[in-house]
Amino acid sequence: MLTCPSCGQENSEGFRFCGACGAALAPARVREVRKTVTVLFSDVTGSTALGERLDPESLRHVMGRYLEEMKDVLDRHGGTVEKFIGDAVMAVFGIPTLHEDDALRALRAAWEMRDRLGPLNTELEGDFGVRLEARIGVNTGEVVTGEAASSDRLATGDAVNVAPRLEQAAAPGEILLGEQTLELARDAIEVAPAEQLSLKGKADLVAAYRLLNVVEGALAFERLDAPLVGRQEELARVRRAFEQAVSERRCRLVTVLGPPGIGKSRLAGELGANLRGEANILVGRCLPYGEGITYWPLREIFAAAGAEDELEAALAEGAPEEIFWSVRKAFESRAREWPLVLVLEDIHWAEPTLLDLIEHLADWTRDAQLLLLCLARPELLDERTAWASRANAQTLTLEPLAEGEADELIESLLGESQLDEKARLRVAQVAEGNPLFVEQLLAMLVEGGEVDRIPATIQALLASRLDGLPAVERELLERAAVVGVEFEWEVLGELAPDRHRPAGAQLAVLVRKELIRPHEAIDDAFRFRHMLIRDAAYERIPKQLRSELHERVARWLDGKGEEFEEIVGYHLEQAYRSVAELGPPGERVRALAEQAAERLAASGRRAHARADMPAAANLLERATALFAGDAPQRLSLLPSLGRALLEAGQMEQAGSVLAEAVERAQTAGERVLAADAAVSLSYLQIQTSPHEGLYGEVERRVEEAIPVFRELGDEAGLARALGVAGTLRLWRGEAALAIEDLERAARSARDAGDRAQEADSLEYVLVAMVWGPTPVEEAMQRVKELRPRAQGNRRLLVDLLRVQGQLEAMQGRFVAGRDLIAQARALGEEVGLELTLASGVAFQAGYVELLAGDAVAAERELRPACDAMERMGSWGTLASVAPWLVDALLVQGRDQEALRLAERWSAARLAPPEDADAQAGWRRVRAKLLARKGELDEAERIGREATAIASATDFLDLRAQANADFAEVLRLAGRPEESAAAVQEAIRLHEEKGNIAAAALLAHSPASTPAAS
Ligand SMILES: Nc1ncnc2c1ncn2[C@@H]1O[C@H](COP(=O)(O)OP(=O)(O)O)[C@@H](O)[C@H]1O
Ligand SMILES: [Mg+2]
Repeated sequence: MLTCPSCGQENSEGFRFCGACGAALAPARVREVRKTVTVLFSDVTGSTALGERLDPESLRHVMGRYLEEMKDVLDRHGGTVEKFIGDAVMAVFGIPTLHEDDALRALRAAWEMRDRLGPLNTELEGDFGVRLEARIGVNTGEVVTGEAASSDRLATGDAVNVAPRLEQAAAPGEILLGEQTLELARDAIEVAPAEQLSLKGKADLVAAYRLLNVVEGALAFERLDAPLVGRQEELARVRRAFEQAVSERRCRLVTVLGPPGIGKSRLAGELGANLRGEANILVGRCLPYGEGITYWPLREIFAAAGAEDELEAALAEGAPEEIFWSVRKAFESRAREWPLVLVLEDIHWAEPTLLDLIEHLADWTRDAQLLLLCLARPELLDERTAWASRANAQTLTLEPLAEGEADELIESLLGESQLDEKARLRVAQVAEGNPLFVEQLLAMLVEGGEVDRIPATIQALLASRLDGLPAVERELLERAAVVGVEFEWEVLGELAPDRHRPAGAQLAVLVRKELIRPHEAIDDAFRFRHMLIRDAAYERIPKQLRSELHERVARWLDGKGEEFEEIVGYHLEQAYRSVAELGPPGERVRALAEQAAERLAASGRRAHARADMPAAANLLERATALFAGDAPQRLSLLPSLGRALLEAGQMEQAGSVLAEAVERAQTAGERVLAADAAVSLSYLQIQTSPHEGLYGEVERRVEEAIPVFRELGDEAGLARALGVAGTLRLWRGEAALAIEDLERAARSARDAGDRAQEADSLEYVLVAMVWGPTPVEEAMQRVKELRPRAQGNRRLLVDLLRVQGQLEAMQGRFVAGRDLIAQARALGEEVGLELTLASGVAFQAGYVELLAGDAVAAERELRPACDAMERMGSWGTLASVAPWLVDALLVQGRDQEALRLAERWSAARLAPPEDADAQAGWRRVRAKLLARKGELDEAERIGREATAIASATDFLDLRAQANADFAEVLRLAGRPEESAAAVQEAIRLHEEKGNIAAAALLAHSPASTPAAS
């Protein structure tokens, strides 16, 4: 038989084209697949000694009997005996087909193998006078093997090597298991830690556990019992069906469908609790494997009813029709007297005979108040397409929990335990509304697991679900998984071996099986039902093939437009990464890396230009990682990467990237690059490592760089250098001159097409206009003029909004001011401008509240911003903003705290002496603090320093503020006339600026009128 790769139709051998769809029939090929399996390795101890004692003929018989018994056990638990090596046995659980409980099956088998040895030894002792002892190792891990259908089922992988090592480390009669096996079966077994193993070729020790017990009938991992969330609608529907069964005295069949963990059993449990007192509820579970399991659920049900004999009698009749009849009569007679609910769990595992029996009950039960509640995964419908299509039957599909419901579940499962917000979000995001996944993820995290890991239990569930699919469907999902969580129908054709798009019917099957669903918004596109299904499908694909498929997706998308370049880059990157792990890179692989890096770099630069800093940093970082360390292309990216990191608030990484860039560029004789990186690095240093003379150093470096840019015509570099020069001038306190420099820098940046740099310079133009001599009215005008330039430049828009907000507030329009700042914040958060959010937006918000006289609100804005700048290590900006937080505390009378903060964030430590705003700001609040403590002389000295530093600048408000605060010092010193004069000077300066609100606030302050002593 040849299966059509396109539509799945079976064709006879020898056909070249599919009889159903005409697609070419590929010759049978062995596909490899990666999967996680459990390997059991068992060996007889002392068999050499045995060989010396026994005649070869007897030995052969003894070993034959032993192997026969062991194979029997392994077969019954679904293990595949891969080989006998002398008297050792190796079996794999998961080949040819994975089961979600492979690890537990292997352990059950190991336990039983040991048990079996007892009776066998009695027999051997009698016949040959010998006893055998065995050691067993069980280990779980990823292997590569031939696809299920192929004959090549040899498993290769580390897991296979570790199992025999565990076996060798075990004492006679012992079973040792590895870490992952334990994780997968943890709630059904008891273990004790054994000595760790050091294995050849492995740096770390391998953990091992001694198996002490396998608990009969236990599940591999516990289900928990958080209070029920949601599901009210579903419960009501089942309840209505029950009421109908009662009122009509007719059997009703309700089938609840849904993937593992979605809450089917839970729903049945809740219903049972609801109906207590109204009905007799009996539960039977289908088992995934075992001997004589056909009627197992009935055994449970009859046992619960205390009527085992009745079932024994029925089963003794032999023929199914007879059994069905007797079982039905048994239920009918009970359900006539009192309503009866039979819950049949997991009927996707039921033998066909049991399904026939359920249908028989549904069709033939008469005059009985019987509800049959069946629970199943969607694959039930593969076998029984017409299941539940009878009049008295209905199905109900459980959807994932809604977002709010999932949050509620997380909350109640956590109880007392703490989990940080990031981890909590991650759980909600990964679980996508599957309650079992929520439980497993939380359990893992609470036990200290890493946030990014997916518990092995979840992986096993999903992997086995995929492994059970027919090859065509599975491979289709694998190809889709390479594309991503969302994929277009068309691209699947690109990835198919025969380059044919799969038939719609095939996709429909996957939709019905709840593995994918049609995309809500895009025609002819689909989504995986769950991110983790995508991951599970992806992980099956051998890396070599992954690489080829990624490359094909990239080629398909290539040229579709600039907006796809990042995705093309991603696929090329994955194409490279998949094979880079396999061995030393060849020609193709190196080419992939380079192409990937080029695409990522180009999109990174674009992200930078549109001020999407986290994206820019991420893309540029990935691009640089793909080039060789000393590749010229990599070097050319480093300055941009450094700047993106800086603006994303990652100062340390920014510093090391820029320092590396300077060094490499100098070595390579790349003068422009070296100059560019050096300018950016010095700009960073001003913010992160203040020291005496730094301003001078930076100015010299900028001066050296400018001619290099001029000479080599690097307009963008020139713009950046001019920008830094202007910014320094501003920080020195020369706002008017700074504005000229910065305007020039902005024009250069604009000419160079560097919008990020343009925004950067204009940002400081705006800041200089707010602080400097420019009257508020005029600054407002300029903000409005600049507005059109913010088109498509979100960074500039953030700056315009926040500065306009401050200007509005200065004119007393607080509502408008707050509103603009809120807009700036929303936008800044969206594009990840962490530094601007803390040093700009939050500062402005706090400043506005202080002007509005709400110190509590000001503190609320300023405190987290200061903390954030401290975390980022942005000392320069912190030094400027911290005095305002001190102000907010002083207004509230919290002097002690204010003092502590002023010391912790002193400008003397954080900022260079040239930073006028920070130095004056810190002194003015410190003077007030000291005066309030009664240290009047020191207060006056520092207050004078503050006014002196401020007076040397053209920052009108800073000068006003220094005077106002000095006035407060004088007032407390009992010098009312001098104090009033200083206040008047402060008011005059505020008025000159046009800061009406600040002037008004001062007019009402105690220092403005001579104090009555
Ligand atoms: N609506 C719900 N509210 C709270 N917990 C739930 C809910 N649904 C399921 N759970 C929990 O999630 C886990 C998995 O549910 P279960 O009913 O066993 O899934 P299924 O039978 O579909 O595989 C159980 O621990 C169950 O208690
Ligand atoms: Mg269940």
